[in-house]
Amino acid sequence: MISDEIIEQIKKKIDIVDVISSYIPLTKKGRNYFGLCPFHDDHSPSMSVSKEKGIYTCFVCGATGNAITFVMNYENVSYLEALKILGEKLGINLNLNTYKKKDNYDHLYEIYEFSNKFYQNNLNTIAGHEARDYLKNRGINEDIIKEFKVGLALGFDKSLTKLLIQKGYKEQDLIDIGLTNKNDYGYQDLFLNRIMFPLWNTEGKIIGYSGRIYNQTDTSKYINTKETVIFKKGLNLYNYHRARNAVRMSGSIIIMEGFMDVIRAHSVGIYNVVATMGTALTIEQANLIKKLSHNVILCFDGDKAGNKATFACGNELVNIGINPKVVRLESNLDPDEYIIKFGVKKFQEKLDNCISFLDFKMNYYKEGKNLNNNEDLSNYVNEIILEVKNIEDEILRELTLKKISGEIGISFETLMSKLFNELNNDTKALIGQTIGNVDENIEDTNPYTYDFKPKKVVKTFRPKVSVTNKYMKAEREILYFMLTDKDLVYKLKSDLPYFPTQICRFLAHEIMYFVEKYDTIASSDFLNYLNSKTELVNLVGEILDSNDKKKYSIEEIPDCINVLKNYNLKNEIDRLNALLKTESDLEKKIELANRIMSLKMGVEENERNQNV
Ligand code: UTP
Ligand code: MN
Repeated sequence: MISDEIIEQIKKKIDIVDVISSYIPLTKKGRNYFGLCPFHDDHSPSMSVSKEKGIYTCFVCGATGNAITFVMNYENVSYLEALKILGEKLGINLNLNTYKKKDNYDHLYEIYEFSNKFYQNNLNTIAGHEARDYLKNRGINEDIIKEFKVGLALGFDKSLTKLLIQKGYKEQDLIDIGLTNKNDYGYQDLFLNRIMFPLWNTEGKIIGYSGRIYNQTDTSKYINTKETVIFKKGLNLYNYHRARNAVRMSGSIIIMEGFMDVIRAHSVGIYNVVATMGTALTIEQANLIKKLSHNVILCFDGDKAGNKATFACGNELVNIGINPKVVRLESNLDPDEYIIKFGVKKFQEKLDNCISFLDFKMNYYKEGKNLNNNEDLSNYVNEIILEVKNIEDEILRELTLKKISGEIGISFETLMSKLFNELNNDTKALIGQTIGNVDENIEDTNPYTYDFKPKKVVKTFRPKVSVTNKYMKAEREILYFMLTDKDLVYKLKSDLPYFPTQICRFLAHEIMYFVEKYDTIASSDFLNYLNSKTELVNLVGEILDSNDKKKYSIEEIPDCINVLKNYNLKNEIDRLNALLKTESDLEKKIELANRIMSLKMGVEENERNQNV
């Protein structure tokens, strides 16, 4: 437990504006701050945050509370976990091990661990011959079998249950967690004659199985563990614990439907992938994804069902403030089949050329409609207008309408006026709500009341760190660890950020080269090697001797990388904005606007990932 003292300390120190603005952008208006409410599908800033009162209120959906409840709701965590998060932000030590969440299911996880060893072993026996062949034919090699801990349940068997009971586990527990069936003749293993794919929770503990048939056709393709005290399907995603790091490194997360798709992607070197396992995305799953990355690519099966699922899942993500990208695969193929048929290069191309969710929806609404038929056309236009209404960026809004107008032969002006009608209706509704629900939190008081207390004014605005300093600090911190830790150099090899300062860039490349050649970064040797490059020698000395290094921590490296990535992203955004101004081709304009939007989201994403 966290002591009352510490809780008090946290509560005292919390600044709700700091807390909330570390999740969503807030703008100051009068005495309060406003932002898009993350708890409903918000399109104009409806959440007000009062610094003095320490509370937030959404005047549309009614969500309200303090900093702690905000974190609880946003991160989907318990009261204690929220305190821990806030404590960390504030630098208050909570004595972590006393906090560690403990359920009493350790013995159940143990059973699953054991059962998995048992199934894995079966696969290697003579009786596993056919299953091994099946996996081999599907191109699932030994390494993948080991990594994904694939096993085998043999036919007409109770050996697992028997063994577990011999080991002292309770029969009822085995039944409750979905490994054992009980019938008139006694007990029997629940999974029979199936290739066993373990399912993990987000922490990486096995909590269930999906068993695939491999030598018969008359029963369902997969049998899954039922919902149990430890297996909550809607709270987990396949491969989540394994994908975590890859998502952080690559900056994006790919969602697929089937776990076989994930295994295939993984086997060809695409690691930032999770699977929904063929069900609708729950809000909890959506938030799990959001926690890892806001840069989401939906890559579902190429068939009709996959199309529908993309639409549903995409909307679910939009609801929590994520604007996903979409990949659609041809010929009804699923990612597994696509990779096998066309190879990973083609698949990677598909990922690189993913389309915006908006573009996906524009196509989606067209399906099954005949746009030469007036009724269909009118339905289509209405659906489109509702979508366009939700686009925040005015330029993109207009460009989208222009494009559609060209496609369907309805004038841009007509579409625009339809859009205005819709927007007007919304505003009226919103004003109605606000008036009907006068909230003291959103009243605007004189913003300058504070003028007499200069100190406080300063506090309400975050001190602006000089931009150059921020990048320079990041550059130097990375270089410091590259100069002292050759493992980091290897790790950065494929992902070395572009250093804004030329001399730092040179040094980074020299280090890279040196470590690759000599497998060491002993400073005397390295300085020897640099020899006559005085500027670089000086820089190395400066970095290694600097006082700043006391503040460095290797855990900050991903943050530093993000900082540099942002620098580059921002440059790219500026460049594209300049292009946008001069581009006259509509298609290209849209493409540019889309690209800028997603880069901006990338920047926000990186900023969010940084410890504030
Ligand atoms: P798919 O039918 O797309 O499976 O279902 P798949 O990944 O292509 O599997 P293979 O290639 O035929 O082996 C997607 C997901 O839906 C769930 C599974 O979790 C699967 O990964 N599913 C599917 C079931 O639970 N039961 C079924 O009978 C079928
Ligand atoms: Mn498949």
